[in-house]
Amino acid sequence: MDLRGLMGNIRVILALDEEEPGAYWRILGELNGLARAVKLSWLSILTLGPEGVRELLSKFRDIYFIMDAKLADVGFMNERIARKLEEWGFRGVIIHGFVKPINMPRTGMDKYILVSMTQETHYDNLLDTVLAEVSGVERSGLVVPGNRLGVLSRVRSLFPRDIIISPGIGVQGGSAGCATKYGADFVIVGRAIYGSREPRGEFLRINEEALSMRCGV
Ligand code: XMP
Repeated sequence: MDLRGLMGNIRVILALDEEEPGAYWRILGELNGLARAVKLSWLSILTLGPEGVRELLSKFRDIYFIMDAKLADVGFMNERIARKLEEWGFRGVIIHGFVKPINMPRTGMDKYILVSMTQETHYDNLLDTVLAEVSGVERSGLVVPGNRLGVLSRVRSLFPRDIIISPGIGVQGGSAGCATKYGADFVIVGRAIYGSREPRGEFLRINEEALSMRCGV
């Protein structure tokens, strides 16, 4: 089952980038049943350590964990890293789109290809090239900034059927309603939820906004 099938009426992928191990357990405990997909990062691995990550993933078995590895090494290394992440229980991995198809890992994991970032990068100069190459890559979805609506709508028009997951919501300025209106299937949200005094309430509020697809007044 792909991410659309797993998420039901949830449009928020929680990003957990905390620097204190207990925070992962606390937030996921509070969001139990709500958070269906969670994105971890290198910061999470450095904070929890390999054992901590494996423990977390096996405790929250129903959650679809994505590792935001931003893989950008040569093919055989990307493949070894992806295989290790898969063994740990991750279901999805994020890979830089600029590495070219030859360096994409062959793995059973769901692959989300990053094609542009929430802040200006050289992806902006290379967008057409990256998008042309990505179209030939086997993938489960694309990572497209949710705070840059021009990029988002352009990618959506070129990839009408792809699953698009979009960071950049909240602290980075994007709105969940605008992101879904302009083409995101799911918004990736971190600090606005885990940094809130009421993570559950904030999760639900942002999810409603994403479902509404309302952008502006
Ligand atoms: P916040 O706290 O800003 O966290 O909601 C955002 C999360 O998303 C990651 N991030 C990105 N990931 N492409 C990505 O693949 C991007 O352009 C991008 N911008 C932010 C960030 O690492 C954090 O986990």
